[in-house]
Amino acid sequence: MNYEEMIKLAEEASKQAYAPYSKFSVGACVLADSGNVYTGCNFENSSFGMAICAERNAIGTAIANGERKINAVAIFSPNMLNCTPCGACRQVMNEFKSDNGLDIIVKGEEGIKIYTIEELLPESFNL
Ligand code: THU
Repeated sequence: MNYEEMIKLAEEASKQAYAPYSKFSVGACVLADSGNVYTGCNFENSSFGMAICAERNAIGTAIANGERKINAVAIFSPNMLNCTPCGACRQVMNEFKSDNGLDIIVKGEEGIKIYTIEELLPESFNL
């Protein structure tokens, strides 16, 4: 699956977002080493701090399906161009980066933009 297709799946997933408090919808699409893709959306709670980001939702689904290595994560929000992941999601992506690294794909003003996890999370913490 190419990165353009992944952004389209992330856009589809964003339509399922449950974001009545922030009104900020996000969808994510994860490409695992197996070649399988998994999607997720953000979902919020009346206890605001319990919101789960789209990226961690999609990664959780990948993990629940037996994946341990992730090659790429595409992110789309209808509310923001260049919607890069929050710090918590960057740390979670870092945990499951593939041996070839992990690309983060967002939709910019002039098409897709590709970042590496090293660019978005330099000097990362690893055990
Ligand atoms: N959100 C995501 O789903 N992913 C991000 O990378 C940034 C933030 C969600 C969390 C919350 O539901 C809403 O966007 C506003 O912060």
